Amino acid sequence: MSVLAPSILSADLSRLGEEVAAIEAGGASYVHVDVMDGSFVPNITFGAPLMKSLLGKTALPFDVHLMIVRPELRIADFVTPQTAFVTVHAEACTHLDRVVHQIRELGVGAGVALNPATPLCMAEQLLPELDQLLIMSVNPGFGGQRLIPYTLEKIRRLKALREAGKTNPDLVIGIDGGVDLENIGTVLEAGADLVVAGSAVFGGGTPREKAEAFCRRMR
Ligand code: DX5
Ligand code: ZN
Repeated sequence: MSVLAPSILSADLSRLGEEVAAIEAGGASYVHVDVMDGSFVPNITFGAPLMKSLLGKTALPFDVHLMIVRPELRIADFVTPQTAFVTVHAEACTHLDRVVHQIRELGVGAGVALNPATPLCMAEQLLPELDQLLIMSVNPGFGGQRLIPYTLEKIRRLKALREAGKTNPDLVIGIDGGVDLENIGTVLEAGADLVVAGSAVFGGGTPREKAEAFCRRMR
């Protein structure tokens, strides 16, 4: 069974508590926290204080996506009892092995994200130790973009690597960007375990109903 991790990038941040309560009621499994620094990606979003304002307000664990340069300097800020994963970009790390171990030593799941054009081999040596590999299906920095179809092949290959015993057997295969209720079937067929969706959940309408619609497709 796959799980839904709505991205609060597309939520109404003036009512964040209500928005997160809605996705929780709708069956979401994680809150996807998109941290952007305006350097690794063009936009600046928010930091740990905004995420920590949700501590105790929701039971949903945090799936933190650091789209920042030098993530090793900031990882500890996002480690809380409610943090499930901290995911860094391979493209932002000179010493990725060291950063992955830094995350694991802090007691949370270690994730690596790969931009669409970045091949799986950039993370291959770490697959046996990773808790999540997040396949970006859009170029990071913005919500509301269209899914880039060739990225689904990376999901398929990663699933095959896991089946061949080349990864942590509990590796979570994540997909992030451009997923909606029209393409979710194809995304699930490719093998995604954790599906990030921002604008398709929070963009207009009722997040609870949108989350319910996704979860119905993911059972
Ligand atoms: C993009 C972020 C994604 C984005 C997903 O850089 O990492 O999580 O918010 O938003 P949608 O689902 O609208 O593409
Ligand atoms: Zn994200």
